[in-house]
Formats: sequence, structure tokens, C-alpha cells
Amino acid sequence: NYYAILMAGGVGSRFWPVSTEEFPKQFHDMLGTGDTLIQKTFHRLAKLIPQENIFILTNARYNDLVLEQLPEVTQRQVVLEPAMRNTAPCILYASLKIQKENPDAVMIVAPSDHWIEDEDTFSKNVEQAFEFCSENDALMTLGIQPTFPNTGYGYIEYDKTSAEAIKPVNQFREKPDYETAKAFISQGNFLWNAGIFMWSVKTVINTFQKNQPELFELFKSGISAYNTNAEADFIKENYPKAENISVDYAIMEKSKNVYVIAAEFDWNDLGTWGSLYDKLDKTENGNAVVNARVLPEDASGNMIRTKKDKIVVIDGLQDYIIVDKEEVLLIFPKSKEQDIKKVLQNVRDKF
Ligand code: GDD
Ligand code: MG
Repeated sequence: NYYAILMAGGVGSRFWPVSTEEFPKQFHDMLGTGDTLIQKTFHRLAKLIPQENIFILTNARYNDLVLEQLPEVTQRQVVLEPAMRNTAPCILYASLKIQKENPDAVMIVAPSDHWIEDEDTFSKNVEQAFEFCSENDALMTLGIQPTFPNTGYGYIEYDKTSAEAIKPVNQFREKPDYETAKAFISQGNFLWNAGIFMWSVKTVINTFQKNQPELFELFKSGISAYNTNAEADFIKENYPKAENISVDYAIMEKSKNVYVIAAEFDWNDLGTWGSLYDKLDKTENGNAVVNARVLPEDASGNMIRTKKDKIVVIDGLQDYIIVDKEEVLLIFPKSKEQDIKKVLQNVRDKF
């Protein structure tokens, strides 16, 4: 009864110029290992979940990319969105499809673009959660020990009186402001939301019905079409009407039956070039290099990526992102990496 929903519809704009709207980061070999991020994620999940029960949710324009990169997947498993509406609509839609196929399904919802190296411990934690969700009406998340007041994450306050591995959650707070995040961390019983959820299909659908009645009615009205030839027409017409809202705001912040399990594995959501730098092996000068052959004179702390075997000579450069792609060369301080999103917008406006 184990199922997975793999979310692969994001654009990854802070990884520009490698990640683009035409070819987002989850379809790139960001780590230089030979596998793209979506391939890595699929194979991590396939250790625990029957391959044919793993569904990939993505924008219709990436259908061919998914089928090409995951040849083991059939079209039935690729759930296509005609418009970008964030994570809540696609999770509800896919859950209704899965419920029609198997009303007893227990599932994991996972982003396609995270770095998790210790796959055995990941499997162990997910299995613990699956067992719990099979028996309880629970929305489960994986929590990460926070290290600084990151305002890009969700925060989970767990019940500190609980001695169990799976703890009840007092509140789930998506992307608090800096001061709030700081206060949360100093309290000690807060974890970051890894963005990986586990629940029974029954629980998640009931939760949507309760907390997002409009969204629920919209997708429920197509139920007779799901998993038939009539589905594509229904979705094409109705999906764009869905509210643009993430699952975190739509149900996690609003629900009382949330539980967290502290992840025992190392996790990184690979959101920026700097987070990628942190996870890659470094050269002796302390540069992280993908594809390039680098001759560093006096240069360290740089994240360097080029096309295969390109020779790069750098001198006097500390803590920069250097990315060379056919039509773009980016040389940008790591400390300003969050601004790449804005830079991309400027580039679009100007050129
Ligand atoms: N299929 C599909 N369709 N996938 C989508 C869509 C969509 O419209 N929008 C986003 N995704 C995918 C992204 O590709 C990513 O893998 C995942 O869903 C999460 O979306 P993000 O946009 O990266 O969310 P976030 O980083 O702002 O916040 C989430 O993740 C954090 C941890 O990385 C939240 O769950 C936070 O609470 C969490 O801390
Ligand atoms: Mg993210």
C-alpha cells in the first residue's frame, strides 16, 4: 500500500543560469555524479516503494524530460499540470487519483531536488512514519535541526514533554520573519520542515476537505474522470482555476493532527549555489568544482561549474560563484546568492 508523490514542477531560479524554465534544476546533474536530481530521488524512493507506485507531478511541458530521464516510469505515473499552482493543488489532485486506485494507500510526498546521502537512514525514518500513518489519522513531517534563522523554511514546534521518536506538533509555521525565526530557534523545541510529508491518502483528502473546501470541490468534481480518458480534458479546463497555494499554508499550518519525526540523516534542500558548494567535495584550495578543470592560483571558497573539461584559470578570487553556460557567464559573490532570482528578472527585462 506504499505510494509516493514526487514533486518536480519547480523552476529553481536561484540556480540560474544552469537551471532555467525550459530545463529546471531537478533535471540537471547538479552534483556532478552522473545522475540528475530527479533520478537520484526516484531511486532513493524505489528502495522502499514499489516502482509503479511512484508518481511524478510536474508541469505538462516537462513530460518528455521525465519520461526520458526515468525510462522505468510509464505515462500513468506522470501527473501533468497545465499551469503552475504551487504544491497544494497538485498534491490534492494526485491524492484523489491514488485514492481511486487504492483507498488504503499510505504515501510520502517528496521534493525532487534535495540532497540526502544516507539513504538507509532516510528509508528507516520514512518506514517509521509509514507505520504510524497506517494506524493513526496523522499528517507527518520530517524535521531538521535548525542551525540559523532561515526565513525560507517552515518551522515545527514539537511537544517537548513527549519522549517518543514521533512527537505531536504544537504549531507549524511556514516562512516566519527573521525575528520570529530567531525566537523560535532560541526556544529549543523547533525543527525546520524538510518539505517531506507522510500520511494516508484518506487523512490527507479529509484534511483538504476540511481546510480547503473550494479546492476540494474543484478537484472532487472530476473524480469520475480520473484514471480514464476523460481526465486530461477535465484537468485542462479546471486546473488553472485552482488557488495558487503551497501545501504548507493550505493544510499544515491549519491542522491539529500534525506529528514530526526528527530526521536522523543529513539533509540539504539544495536551494542555492552556496548550499551546493557546502555539500560537494572540495579541491585542496577549497573550491567546489563541477565539470571544469581548474587551475587555481590564489583562489578559494568558489563554486565553479562549466561544461565538461573546460579549463578555468582563476587568481585572487574568494567565495564566488562561477558558472559558464553557452550563452551566459555568471561571476557572482556567494554572499549575494539570494539575489540571483532578481538578476535573472533583470536579464529577462533587458535582453
Ligand atoms: N509539481 C509541482 N507543481 N511541483 C512544485 C510546484 C508546482 O506547481 N511548485 C513547487 N514544486 C516543487 C518544487 O520543485 C520543490 O521540489 C517542492 O515542490 C517545494 O517547493 P518550493 O518552492 O521549493 O518550496 P519552498 O522551498 O519555498 O518551501 C518548502 O520546502 C522547505 C524545505 O525545502 C516548504 O515545505 C517549507 O516548509 C520547507 O521548509
Ligand atoms: Mg525549496
